[in-house]
Amino acid sequence: MNRRHLKFLFVHTLIVIALLHAINGSELATRSENQIATFGTEEKANFTYVLTSVTTKPCILANMIITIKVPYKTQDKVDYKSLVVPDRNVTIDGHCSGVISYMNIIWNATDEKNNSIKFTFINDHTYFSLFSTDLNIYRDKKHFENTTDKEQWFRATSDVDLRLFVTPVENGIHKCSNKTLNFKKGEVIMQNVSLIAFNRNDNFTLRQEVQCPKEQQKSETFPYVLKDANNKACAMARMSILLTVPFKTKKSETGIANIDLSKYKINVDGDCQDTVTMMTLTWPSGDSSAYANKKENKITLSFVKKKTTSELYYVEVQIFTDEENFKDVERVGELISINTRYDASLFPAPVANGVHSCPKQTNVTSSNGNITISDVLLVAFDAETDFATKKVIDCRSILFEDDFAYVIKNKNTGIPCTLANMSITASVKENKERTLSVLTNATATGFCADKYSQMVLSWPVSQKANNVKNSITFHIGQNKTHFFVFQIAATIYPGANDKKKINGASYTGINLFSAAVANGIYHCSNSIFDIELGDIRLTITNVTFIAFYSEENIYSGNLTECKTETSTTTKPTSTPQPTPIPEPKPNVHYNYYVNSTSNVICIAANMSIFIEVPYKTTENKDRKGTLNVPSNASVAGECGDKLSVMKLNWMVNGSKENNTVTVNFEKDDSNYFIRSVNLSVYLDDHNFPNHRDKSYNASTASLNEFSTPLNNVYKCARNTSLTAKDAKIVITNVALIAFNTKQTITSQSVDCVDDDDTSESNAGAIAGGIIGGIIVLVGIISLVVLYRRRRGY
Ligand SMILES: *[C@@H]1O[C@H](CO)[C@@H](O)[C@H](O)[C@H]1NC(C)=O
Ligand SMILES: *[C@@H]1O[C@H](CO)[C@@H](O)[C@H](O)[C@H]1NC(C)=O
Ligand SMILES: *[C@@H]1O[C@H](CO)[C@@H](O)[C@H](O)[C@H]1NC(C)=O
Ligand SMILES: *[C@@H]1O[C@H](CO)[C@@H](O)[C@H](O)[C@H]1NC(C)=O
Ligand SMILES: *[C@@H]1O[C@H](CO)[C@@H](O)[C@H](O)[C@H]1NC(C)=O
Ligand SMILES: *[C@@H]1O[C@H](CO)[C@@H](O)[C@H](O)[C@H]1NC(C)=O
Ligand SMILES: *[C@@H]1O[C@H](CO)[C@@H](O)[C@H](O)[C@H]1NC(C)=O
Ligand SMILES: *[C@@H]1O[C@H](CO)[C@@H](O)[C@H](O)[C@H]1NC(C)=O
Ligand SMILES: *[C@@H]1O[C@H](CO)[C@@H](O)[C@H](O)[C@H]1NC(C)=O
Ligand SMILES: *[C@@H]1O[C@H](CO)[C@@H](O)[C@H](O)[C@H]1NC(C)=O
Ligand SMILES: *[C@@H]1O[C@H](CO)[C@@H](O)[C@H](O)[C@H]1NC(C)=O
Ligand SMILES: *[C@@H]1O[C@H](CO)[C@@H](O)[C@H](O)[C@H]1NC(C)=O
Repeated sequence: MNRRHLKFLFVHTLIVIALLHAINGSELATRSENQIATFGTEEKANFTYVLTSVTTKPCILANMIITIKVPYKTQDKVDYKSLVVPDRNVTIDGHCSGVISYMNIIWNATDEKNNSIKFTFINDHTYFSLFSTDLNIYRDKKHFENTTDKEQWFRATSDVDLRLFVTPVENGIHKCSNKTLNFKKGEVIMQNVSLIAFNRNDNFTLRQEVQCPKEQQKSETFPYVLKDANNKACAMARMSILLTVPFKTKKSETGIANIDLSKYKINVDGDCQDTVTMMTLTWPSGDSSAYANKKENKITLSFVKKKTTSELYYVEVQIFTDEENFKDVERVGELISINTRYDASLFPAPVANGVHSCPKQTNVTSSNGNITISDVLLVAFDAETDFATKKVIDCRSILFEDDFAYVIKNKNTGIPCTLANMSITASVKENKERTLSVLTNATATGFCADKYSQMVLSWPVSQKANNVKNSITFHIGQNKTHFFVFQIAATIYPGANDKKKINGASYTGINLFSAAVANGIYHCSNSIFDIELGDIRLTITNVTFIAFYSEENIYSGNLTECKTETSTTTKPTSTPQPTPIPEPKPNVHYNYYVNSTSNVICIAANMSIFIEVPYKTTENKDRKGTLNVPSNASVAGECGDKLSVMKLNWMVNGSKENNTVTVNFEKDDSNYFIRSVNLSVYLDDHNFPNHRDKSYNASTASLNEFSTPLNNVYKCARNTSLTAKDAKIVITNVALIAFNTKQTITSQSVDCVDDDDTSESNAGAIAGGIIGGIIVLVGIISLVVLYRRRRGY
């Protein structure tokens, strides 16, 4: 194999694990009735059955009249009853992914029993098609009068690899007026079909109609199927194989034979075992000499199950020279072998029920010739299990939101912005150490802003104390090139009750889980992160992390893998050695700064500010206009001893005028706070149509807002609403410090707490925020912060 190839393999293996933790789709895909309502445009409203992934995007859209002919026995014969799948009051669930997706339509048979029909689709990189269909029909008394069936359920699975409704995945929409699918017993008739699968784009106007062919197509998604002694499939493969074989001509020159396997009728043979599959593809040699019929060209593909993946570990080609492919070959009928080394480690798939998908070329090179394999869709083991449950490793690292346990969406766009999988255990140092595992079903909440995002994983302290939650907060930043977690904080109730809680935070600038801002995916399965947050220690493993994600980026990830290869654990010593705290990085994660004369940042802030301004129209009517302070607003200000000012300034689109929001800070002996906010808004024609006046100026009354102990960062995700005359100023997603005097901004922070957090607050609590709620001190306890990484990382 050449070096390029090895690099390619490396990426393969990385993606492997990312997807191994894929969660079963049915848990995550949204369930909702009549999902049509979520669509805006009229085109979308045409679809009766829509599966929406965890994102807001529909991934399977179908419109069809489905009639199921259900067999049932009566006294004297087998009869069929036609049931029409309702087009209203159905529940849709399923799983959206890049290679295999399914949609399950569920409706009531009786009050207690549900009928369902499941459509599983496959994406062969170019076309999607219906792969299989499953029926679960309850033969209720009302519809199946006088039935003598002992079994009231009719359950049936179609053949696999149906290859129905074949349509370009990029831009096709399938239209078919009438298609019948035969089961061993029973039938499904689909009429007036409009179908889109693996949709990634909600503009359907560009999709081109594909009509269903009159006759059944002969081609299959998987041309190579290996069956075991019981005639059950154990391996299924789709791959384009091209052989490039040098040979010596009669003139002693070097010729090159290019052999494309798709030109031949291939026979599939081999051996199925629990952990090894050997698939042999054979085709007759073109050698026309006397022994030709004894000579078979052959490719042997050997797959093995390893610990976490199954892989192609050996490929061997044996080909006889013939006159057709080897023009002017010196010796006809000579055997040429090309093989990889053992443990070639190609095409990894999850070890249990896995699929490998890769449209790209993989080259196996040797002096005897090269093998180029592309367009791979491979099930090397467990080919009989339901495809809908399969786990896919895709070399393009197309990740779907459904593959992640923790997803935070941008509130405005609905696009997921932070996606993560990780295993966390939290240990609390008390009299004796207690360890809690963070459940994978912890709830992820948080927000996304331009430069600063937050992900909070929380889970109930116990079943009894359901409202009281343990939580772990990831503070996420980005600079020009990378995103990263710059601080982790946690609140843990070690006693499984609400009696006692322990807060902790790491220092700012721990710089974990960093990957490229453009298309970046961070992945680490072979390192253990021990992170000390004061009295709490977090152990984090198996991390896949994406932040500041925007939908354009999902197609091909730029993977950053942690570097350690060993998997041994160095347990922290019982008396932790205080390792020196790494030099914190400059403060890269704030949007707005005000520098003092001594070149120290005195005000650093992330905040989203929304303004609602009342105005009068030329007809003297009262209207309201709204503005968002842009994150790239220019910042000016002053740093004083007792008073500091931050002025956010931005140009009004299409004019020479400015808008300004001025935030005035004040400090007393122990706290700093916002004293007032001034607005100076230019009433432009776009946001304030038909306005009578030119501008609007207002100030808030005297405030004591965001009051925070000095040298602490104030953090608050929820809305804080202020009024300035009749204008409303709403501030959210705040991370803020004023009157900072230190070279690096502190890690200590004060969080405002969500309204539902009823945990006891104490002397440290400060009332604040118009919406209400209690602010408690977080992180102050954790002055000694220690973060250790494993050797070798
Ligand atoms: C939706 O229905 C309209 C009118 O019936 C039709 O013009 C349009 O092509 C349909 N769109 C799709 C995607 O089926
Ligand atoms: C859908 O269900 C609701 C309540 O279950 C019922 O009132 C309504 O008639 C049903 N609609 C249809 C079309 O069956
Ligand atoms: C199915 O029946 C159950 C029980 O009567 C009812 O609660 C549920 O709403 C029904 N579902 C639909 C989709 O009609
Ligand atoms: C069911 O059986 C009853 C009594 O034998 C008969 O009257 C009725 O017609 C039957 N119904 C059907 C649909 O065969
Ligand atoms: C649909 O096809 C089935 C069999 O292929 C046929 O029996 C039926 O009459 C067709 N229906 C229509 C409306 O063409
Ligand atoms: C969909 O794409 C077409 C063609 O590019 C464009 O004209 C149309 O505005 C788009 N529609 C939406 C809703 O984006
Ligand atoms: C594989 O080989 C083909 C033909 O020799 C070549 O065009 C292609 O660039 C190679 N691909 C890789 C990834 O090396
Ligand atoms: C096989 O691949 C290698 C590396 O890409 C290349 O140098 C060589 O020419 C190829 N051999 C043939 C017969 O194409
Ligand atoms: C989370 O998982 C645990 C253990 O599997 C289970 O007991 C608990 O009910 C789950 N919680 C939720 C909200 O699903
Ligand atoms: C951005 O952050 C990454 C990861 O923390 C760091 O390696 C890189 O040097 C930073 N780049 C700049 C320009 O600060
Ligand atoms: C991946 O990210 C790195 C920065 O970490 C960048 O240098 C590289 O160009 C990116 N590669 C791709 C394919 O985007
Ligand atoms: C990490 O993933 C591997 C592979 O799936 C698994 O064996 C291991 O148990 C996981 N580790 C944790 C701590 O969950």
